[in-house]
Amino acid sequence: MSEWVTICRVEDIPRLGARRVARDVGAAVAVFRTADDGVFALLDRCPHKGGPLSQGIVFGHSVACPLHNWAIGLDDGCARAPDEGCTPRFAVRVEAGVVALDAAELRTLALAPPAAPTGACSAGGAGA
Ligand code: FES
Repeated sequence: MSEWVTICRVEDIPRLGARRVARDVGAAVAVFRTADDGVFALLDRCPHKGGPLSQGIVFGHSVACPLHNWAIGLDDGCARAPDEGCTPRFAVRVEAGVVALDAAELRTLALAPPAAPTGACSAGGAGA
């Protein structure tokens, strides 16, 4: 059975925005709120070059990365075509307006340093 960590209330997350949740280990988690009050959580690192997705603009069930405007799906963490790559997604529980994240995932998911950047700009040789 999962152990859940209370993060905030849904209304504490700006509609079409995000709240950043720091962790003791690993990169922070971005918790997003959509226009229809859906709540999603992704690692706060764009799969392109690590941009802070929590500072992006939410539209529909996607977020536009603030660095190069890739659209990342909130439901799967994956870049929308033609871009490629995914960022880890975290389970979210919303009960009675209270948002919680899975404690085990917060401790263990996506702790490794980010992989080499993906996308067209990463195709260069050493030092690129
Ligand atoms: S770092 Fe997000 S689109 Fe480039």
